[in-house]
Parts: sequence; C-alpha cells; structure tokens
Amino acid sequence: MKEVAFVLFLALLVLVSDAKVTKPNTKNFLRCLRSRTSPENPITDALFTPGNSTFVSSYVSYTRNKRFSNPKDTKLIAIVAAKHESHVQATVVCAKSNRIQIRIRSGGHDYEGLSYISSVPFVILDMHNLRSITVDVSNKKAWVEAGAILGELYTKIAEASKTLAFPSGVCPTVGAGGHISGGGYGNLIRKYGLTVDHVVDAKLVDVNSKILNRASMGEDLFWAIRGGGGASFGVILSWKLNLVEVPKTLTVFNVNRTLEQGGTDVFYKYQLVASKLPKELFLRSMPTLANGRKSGKKTIAVKFYAQFLGSAKKLMEIINKNLPELGLKREDCYEMSWINTTTFWDDYPVGTPTSVLLDRPSGPPRASFKSKSDYVKKPIPKEGIKKFWKTMLKFNNLVYIELNPYGGVMDKIPANATAFPHRKGNLFKIQYYALWNNEKATKVNLGLMKELYDVAKPYVSSNPREAFLNYRDVDVGSNPSGETNVAKAEIYGSKYFLGNWKRLMDVKAKYDPENFFRFEQSIPPLRAM
Ligand SMILES: Cc1cc2nc3c(=O)[nH]c(=O)nc-3n(C[C@H](O)[C@H](O)[C@H](O)COP(=O)(O)OP(=O)(O)OC[C@H]3O[C@@H](n4cnc5c(N)ncnc54)[C@H](O)[C@@H]3O)c2cc1C
Ligand SMILES: *[C@@H]1O[C@H](CO)[C@@H](O)[C@H](O)[C@H]1NC(C)=O
Ligand SMILES: *[C@@H]1O[C@H](CO)[C@@H](O)[C@H](O)[C@H]1NC(C)=O
Ligand SMILES: *[C@@H]1O[C@H](CO)[C@@H](O)[C@H](O)[C@H]1NC(C)=O
Ligand SMILES: *[C@@H]1O[C@H](CO)[C@@H](O)[C@H](O)[C@H]1NC(C)=O
Repeated sequence: MKEVAFVLFLALLVLVSDAKVTKPNTKNFLRCLRSRTSPENPITDALFTPGNSTFVSSYVSYTRNKRFSNPKDTKLIAIVAAKHESHVQATVVCAKSNRIQIRIRSGGHDYEGLSYISSVPFVILDMHNLRSITVDVSNKKAWVEAGAILGELYTKIAEASKTLAFPSGVCPTVGAGGHISGGGYGNLIRKYGLTVDHVVDAKLVDVNSKILNRASMGEDLFWAIRGGGGASFGVILSWKLNLVEVPKTLTVFNVNRTLEQGGTDVFYKYQLVASKLPKELFLRSMPTLANGRKSGKKTIAVKFYAQFLGSAKKLMEIINKNLPELGLKREDCYEMSWINTTTFWDDYPVGTPTSVLLDRPSGPPRASFKSKSDYVKKPIPKEGIKKFWKTMLKFNNLVYIELNPYGGVMDKIPANATAFPHRKGNLFKIQYYALWNNEKATKVNLGLMKELYDVAKPYVSSNPREAFLNYRDVDVGSNPSGETNVAKAEIYGSKYFLGNWKRLMDVKAKYDPENFFRFEQSIPPLRAM
C-alpha cells in the first residue's frame, strides 16, 4: 500500500522525465528536417552540426554570458538558424518526433543562458535571421519579427516618425523574442507601462507546428505569452505592437554622487520621491562600485539617470522641487530626440551616431555576469543602505544595484491584465548586477551576489519574494533540464508570476499538454481543479 502511494506521489511530482531516454537519433532528426522543408527554402543553409567549421562561431555569436558560452559544456546536437517559417515548423515537428528538446533563442541575452544550454541532448532554434520590421505610421503600429533586436526596432520607428516610440528595454542588442514575451520594460514604464501592455497581436508556432495569430490562438494563450515567457508555449515568430507618442524633444541626464559627496542621503531621499514624480519622468538610481579619490581606495558612486518627456527647463523645476539634494545643474541636462536618448541610456557619449544601435554582437562574450532581482514596497532605511554599501565594497570588479521606479501607470494596470504580475504597490524593482572578466573570479562573485541578496531580504517583498522573469535567476528555483517537477516549478513560478501562476499552468495544459516546450524554468502543464 505504501509503495503504491509512493509511486502515485512520484507520478504526480514528475510530469515528464527524459532522464532515461537513450541517445537521440540525430540522423533521423536531420533526415526529418530535410523531408519537412522544401527546395525553395532549403534548410541546409540554416543548419549547423558539430561537423560544420562554423558550428562553434554560430553557437557563441548569440551567447551573452561567458559563464555559459562553451558548447562543450552542453549536449548540443545542432543549431537551426531558421531563415524561413517552415524551418521553425520543421524543427518543432522533428524534435518532437525524435524526442529531442529544443531551446529557442532570439537575442541570446538570457541571464542564465537558458536559451542555449541544456544537460540533455538538444537543438537550438535560433531566430536571428528572422528579423524584419515594418512600421505603419498612420495606424501607429509595427510588426517586428522575433529575431530583431531593440536597436533595429528603435531605428525603424525613428526613420518613420519623429514622435513615435516603443516602451521597451534599454539595451539595444536585446532580442524581441525573449524580451517582449518576458514583459520587457524600459525608461517609458511610468508613462506607458511594459512592452506587453502594447502588444496587439502575435504569430506563434505551436506544439503541432501550426502558425497561429491572436484570433486563432485564442485570448488565453495570447494572455500567457505576454509576460509568461514565450518558450513554455511555442515559438514566437513576430509581434504586432502599438507604438506610443513622445515629444520631439526629451531631456536626459546622468550624474552621480559618491559616498563622500553625500550619496547616501541623496539616495535615501530619492527613494521617497521617485515613484511619485510625474509619470513623464523616469529617474533610475544606480549605486555603483567606483574608484575613490585616493588610489586603491574604493567608494560607491550613486548614479542617477533621467528620461523626461519634456524640456530641460521643466525637468530642472521638477528636480529642484522634489530632490534638491541632488544639486542638479542645467548643464547636466541634454535635450535630444527620443532615438538619441536610446544611445545616451546605453552609455554612448552625446553625439554618437545612432548607427551604433544596429551593431549586433559577434564573437564570444568577453565577460561573465550574474544578476538577481527584487521588488521594494517601502523605502529602505539608512542602516539597510549602509549594509548594501558594505557588501558592495567587498567586490573587486563591476557591481551595481539598479533601482527602477514604479508608480505612474504601473499602479493602474491590474495584475492579471497580462501574465506579468508585479504592478501596483511597488516603489521599485531592483536589479543586482556583477560583471567580471577573469573566470577564476566566478565563485567569489556568485558568493558575494548571494550575500547582497541576503542583506536585502528584510527590506524587500516577501512571501513570496518576488522576482522578474527577464532577470532570469536560477537561484529562485529550477528544474533539471530533462524534467519538470511541479513542486519545484511552484518555487520559481510563485515568485515570477504570483497570482497568475495557476492560470499559466492551466493555459500550458491546454496548449502543450505533453510538455514539449520545457526547460529549467518552464511552466508545467497542470489543469486547474
Ligand atoms: C545587457 C542587457 C540589458 C538588458 N536590459 C533590459 C531592460 O532594459 N529591460 C528588460 O525588460 N530586460 C532587459 N534585459 C533582459 C532581457 O529582456 C532578457 O534577457 C530577455 O529574455 C532577452 O531576450 P532575448 O531574445 O535577447 O534572449 P534569449 O536568450 O534569446 O531568450 C530569453 C528567453 O526567451 C525565450 N525565447 C527567446 N526567443 C523566443 C521566441 N522567439 N519564442 C519563444 N521563446 C523565446 C528563450 O527560450 C529564453 O527562455 C537585459 C539583458 C541584458 C543582457
Ligand atoms: C553543415 O554541414 C552539413 C553536412 O555536411 C551541410 O549539409 C550544411 O549545409 C552545413 N551548414 C552550413 C551552414 O554550411
Ligand atoms: C561620476 O561623475 C563624474 C563627473 O561627471 C565622472 O567623471 C565620473 O566618471 C562619474 N563616475 C561614475 C562611476 O560614473
Ligand atoms: C542625434 O544625434 C546625432 C549624432 O550626434 C545628431 O547628428 C543629431 O542632430 C541628433 N538629433 C537630434 C534630433 O537630437
Ligand atoms: C482579472 O480579475 C478580475 C477579478 O477577478 C476579472 O474580473 C477579470 O476578468 C480578470 N482579467 C483578465 C484579463 O483575466
């Protein structure tokens, strides 16, 4: 009796397990790909196997984190860098019939490499060749394919209009596929919300290799891919976006105050006001480890980045009224077009040609990084801030904590409007970030990042301690590559998705009941009871 109960328990816990699957039939998989594609759109140009001299370069060119960029550390069978929709469909059919897992990669910016690593045999479906963008100015819409990067999207929008924009991320090399499905945000968040608040249609290849749009997929799947992460549900081919209006001239600044310059007090006061400022102003604070005045001495430089939908004069008024402690000067402020703000925010000097937005990463990543996230609902007291500084000063390479203020429309949009749940009541989202070049420093950095996260615990959300999907962090829970354990999934699912978790599992059960689209942090198929 006990044994039966135990077996039942296991069956419930482990929905799908590949652990015992023998070596997959790679030959059959490749044969299947050829038979499923037509000579007009040959798959040979898109296919890379370990025998190809360009296999490794094809692998690393869209890996962003050196921690995971060695293909030898994974069980990679092939890369399909799809050049046509039929290549995507064939990859899904053939991987499924040969019981091979896939990882879907668009921009390759996943913080934990989950779009290009696995410990069971797998194929990478790489979308970077599918990257066309069309902008329809009169209807204020754009279609963007998954493999486009944000810099390309921003450039196309700016070429078509001086007063349209799209509210998404700050890094121009992020891919549309992962970024938008994970609920991407950027410096227009307080005025316009997230990427997913402006997605009006999508094209997706489902588990049966059918191409669906919003009308044919239905509202529940369309809800899930807006913030739930695309990779649990299918392969996003493209998004239809609603563009938003911006003035011809915006104002930006980037200033900092070190601890010696009273940075702690400015930072404390900043926390009290940032989420209550007019929604046209996004003021990010980013305490960063920096060199002190004396050589060999470290300090914290509390950086402030502003994006304001208005003039420098008006911005000065707002800052002087709400945060005079910053001591902002008019000459710190730059008035420029929206497209020029995107290079400013990526730390290019003012005057840099915007053609840099089209630079795609090539070659292996030079640095390793680790990131973690938190949501803050009440200001962090000064004693807490000082504890942060103390841990940050232990690092010997780049480390920062980035506060992204909420408020504005984020307080107005219900938590279940899309799958992205972190809305009302947050003062900030924090990102903790460390970057290092020397692989020997990995252990120390991962340890210090854990310490920073422990230091933060009393001051951030709890039960659950919320986390942001696009800031992927396997420490918040994960499954082995080849299995989906529901109890384990609940651990990361509750943090990423809060009250939307059950509904996401339900949608998953409806559209991918056999759990083909699975990975270390995917959503398990579990019917609501
Ligand atoms: C330098 C840097 C700056 C960043 N800045 C921001 C920011 O300002 N705002 C923000 O919100 N985020 C930001 N991010 C995080 C970024 O949004 C996420 O890493 C995002 O998932 C990246 O998307 P991608 O397509 O480039 O990544 P990928 O690694 O290709 O994919 C990420 C995830 O999405 C899945 N996926 C990718 N393409 C598809 C597809 N076509 N269909 C289905 N699933 C797919 C992958 O399988 C994986 O699970 C930043 C990341 C970096 C490295
Ligand atoms: C990789 O090698 C295979 C087998 O030799 C070949 O069919 C394919 O065209 C090669 N791919 C590329 C991109 O050259
Ligand atoms: C802080 O600002 C000063 C003056 O603008 C600048 O020289 C310095 O590089 C900045 N420090 C950091 C860490 O950004
Ligand atoms: C944007 O920046 C470029 C490069 O400095 C400059 O030539 C251009 O005039 C700027 N445009 C606007 C509208 O600010
Ligand atoms: C969100 O929840 C509310 C209250 O339960 C419900 O009325 C509404 O239909 C839900 N919205 C969506 C988009 O599911």
